[in-house]
Amino acid sequence: MRVEEVPDPEPGPGEVLIRVHAVSVNRTLDLVVRAGKYTRPVTLPLVPGVDPAGVVARLGPDVTNRKVGDRVVTALRVDRESKFAAPRLLGVHTWGGYAEYVKARAENTQLIPDGLDFPTACVVARHAPTAFHLLRDRARLQAGEWVLVMGAAGGLGSAGVQAAKYLGAKVIAAAGADERVKVGCDLGADAGVNYRSQDLTAEVMRITEDRGVNVVFENIADPELFPKAFAGLGRHGRLVTAGAHGGGTVPLDVKHLYHNQITVIGATGETPADVKMSLEAAAAGRFKVVIDRVLPLSQAVQAHEIVAGRGGTGKVVLDATRI
Ligand SMILES: NC(=O)c1ccc[n+]([C@@H]2O[C@H](COP(=O)([O-])OP(=O)(O)OC[C@H]3O[C@@H](n4cnc5c(N)ncnc54)[C@H](OP(=O)(O)O)[C@@H]3O)[C@@H](O)[C@H]2O)c1
Repeated sequence: MRVEEVPDPEPGPGEVLIRVHAVSVNRTLDLVVRAGKYTRPVTLPLVPGVDPAGVVARLGPDVTNRKVGDRVVTALRVDRESKFAAPRLLGVHTWGGYAEYVKARAENTQLIPDGLDFPTACVVARHAPTAFHLLRDRARLQAGEWVLVMGAAGGLGSAGVQAAKYLGAKVIAAAGADERVKVGCDLGADAGVNYRSQDLTAEVMRITEDRGVNVVFENIADPELFPKAFAGLGRHGRLVTAGAHGGGTVPLDVKHLYHNQITVIGATGETPADVKMSLEAAAAGRFKVVIDRVLPLSQAVQAHEIVAGRGGTGKVVLDATRI
C-alpha cells in the first residue's frame, strides 16, 4: 500500500464528491482486503476506506437531497440488498475513503449532526448501526435480558455494549485484557470478565445466578473462546455474530444447542434509520466511541501495522486533510 497521485473522481448522476476528513481502519475490510485474503474478489488498484466522513465538495447531475458544504458520512453498501448477490462495498469493490476525495451515491450519505466531529462520526456510523441491527432486529434482544458482549473494547463490541444498554438489557463485557474489560464497564456494562485469565463460562454462570445469558454478541469465532461463550447461553438463548477474525472455524456443542433450544444467527447489515439514530445519539452524548489515535492519511501503512499488532485500545482513524 502506498500513496499515489490520481485524478479526482468525477461524480456521476445521483452522486456527490466528498472531501474526506476522516476514515477508520478496520481489521477485516481494510487489513484482510489489503492482504488479499478477503472472501470476495477485489480488483486492483484499489483505494481502501469503507466509512469516509467529510464535506460535500461537488454535486453530480440530478442530486437534490444534498448541497455543497453538507457534512456527511457514507454507507458501506454501494448497492441495495438483493436476494441473489451480496452488495458491492465502498472501499472494497469501488474506490473508498483513503483519499482526499471519494464519490458516493447521494442517497448513500447521511448528514452528520452539528457538534459531532468527523472521526467520531465515521466510527459511530461504522459500528453502532450494525450493533443495533444484530442485537435488536436479529437476536431480538429484550429489555431486562442478559447479553454477553465478546471483544467489548473493540469497534463492534464497544458499540454492542452501548446498544444493549440502550435497549434496556443487562450486559457482561468480556475482553482479553483487564484494561479492555474496564473499557466495556466504563461504557455501561453491568459486569466484566477477562476471558484470557478467567473461566468465561463459570463467570457468566456466577453473574447470571446459573441461568446463563439470553444473548451472546460474539463476532470473533476464536476456537477456544466461542465454546466458552456458547456454554454460557441459557434456555432459548441466541448467539449472533458478524465476525470470524479469531479463526472462523469453531467447535459447537450440539447437545447444548438442542437441549436448550438455542439459535445461532449469522448476520451483517444496518439500516439508514439506525445510522441517523446512532449519529444523533452520539451528538447528544448518549453513544461514545473509543478512538486510539488519529493519524495523517500518509501514515496509512503504520495505521495498518498498529491495528494488526492489537496493541492499542480503540479505533485508529486516518485524517485525509493531513497528507
Ligand atoms: N460494522 C461492524 O462493526 C462490522 C460489520 C460486519 C462484520 N464485522 C466484523 O466484526 C468483527 C469485529 O470487528 P471490529 O471492527 O469490532 O474489530 P476490532 O475493533 O479489531 O475488535 C475485535 C476484538 O476482538 C477481540 N479478539 C479476540 N480474539 C482476537 C484475535 N484472535 N484477533 C483479533 N482480535 C481478537 C479483540 O479483543 P481482545 O483482545 O480484548 O480479546 C478485539 O477488541 C470483525 O470480524 C469484523 O469483520 C464488523
